[in-house]
Amino acid sequence: MLEQLEKIEQDALSALEMMDDQEALESWRVAYLGRSSPLMAVFDQLGQLPKDERPAIGRRANQVKQSLELKLDEKTEKLKQVELRRALETERLDITLPGRAVSLGRLHPITKTLRKVYQIFAEMGFQVYLSRDVETDEYNFQLLNFPPHHPAREMQDSFYIEGEFEEDNPLLLRTHTSPGQIRAMREYSAANPQDPPPVRIILPGMCYRHEQVTARAESQFTQVEGLAVGKTITFSDLKGTLSDFNKRMFGENVRSRFRASYFPFTEPSAEVDIECFVCGGEGCPVCKRTGWLEILGCGMVHPIVLQNGGYDPSIYTGFAFGLGPERITMLCYRIEDIRYFWANDIRFLEQF
Ligand code: DAH
Repeated sequence: MLEQLEKIEQDALSALEMMDDQEALESWRVAYLGRSSPLMAVFDQLGQLPKDERPAIGRRANQVKQSLELKLDEKTEKLKQVELRRALETERLDITLPGRAVSLGRLHPITKTLRKVYQIFAEMGFQVYLSRDVETDEYNFQLLNFPPHHPAREMQDSFYIEGEFEEDNPLLLRTHTSPGQIRAMREYSAANPQDPPPVRIILPGMCYRHEQVTARAESQFTQVEGLAVGKTITFSDLKGTLSDFNKRMFGENVRSRFRASYFPFTEPSAEVDIECFVCGGEGCPVCKRTGWLEILGCGMVHPIVLQNGGYDPSIYTGFAFGLGPERITMLCYRIEDIRYFWANDIRFLEQF
């Protein structure tokens, strides 16, 4: 039995020499250490041996088993190293190749315009005031002095929100940023109702209109509202501020023109044009041969609106304005169709 064990060990070790990959090692393990290997047969026969032979044979069989297992582990480790070295030699890495370009994101053109607008008004001392997108009829229209049957209130112009609401005061998506004027003035005046502080803010945000979508009109667009309220504000301040804004936005030499207009929440009201920067005022397709481009609406805050905001119109005056970043961006980059902005087409967005 002892010689038999000797031979099992010899055979196993010399067979192990020949194994040269992990798969071969596994079949070697099955053959020499597996259930039906000669070594396991020795363990199985131990019980039938004479009592005095059992300890020596048993001890020897265990030694052989341990030594084969050890050699198997060593060989496995050795083969792993060999395979790793082979992989390193064949899979060469050319570290002189240029790296892969990282594709950079970029700002949406409207975001760029908005940031420039914020920057210009920040330099003039205007703070950004964020108001809500979901409004009530009261704030969006009534408090802004819209007459009860004003056409802008008709169903087709607003997205109304279904649900419970007070009679005559449904919820809707704001159709302009102007209701933020009332919210801001009420917040400012609530802080000191006897002597409310002056206001100098811009209110940017998304607006929504239930209208036919065309190249010139989207159902969703941004606006930047402006509001200045104080005890000595005049129409000259309005003209000075907006002419200066136009210069900073469109160029030092740009000329501005104020045309009388109508908005329910301002009196007097005006629309502001700049001299066409495409043709320099000569007349071209961009300015529709007029030489002027309409940029924004503005006016002196209506006394009723001041009153609704908690500012006594016999003491306070103010000016307000509203501009459309989409329109400004379209003029600056000669974009022909407003629908590009929110169509999420990467070919459009990559150009900015
Ligand atoms: N809310 C107006 C609109 O959506 C824009 C506007 C015009 C805002 C004149 C103003 C303003 O504050 O004074 O068409």
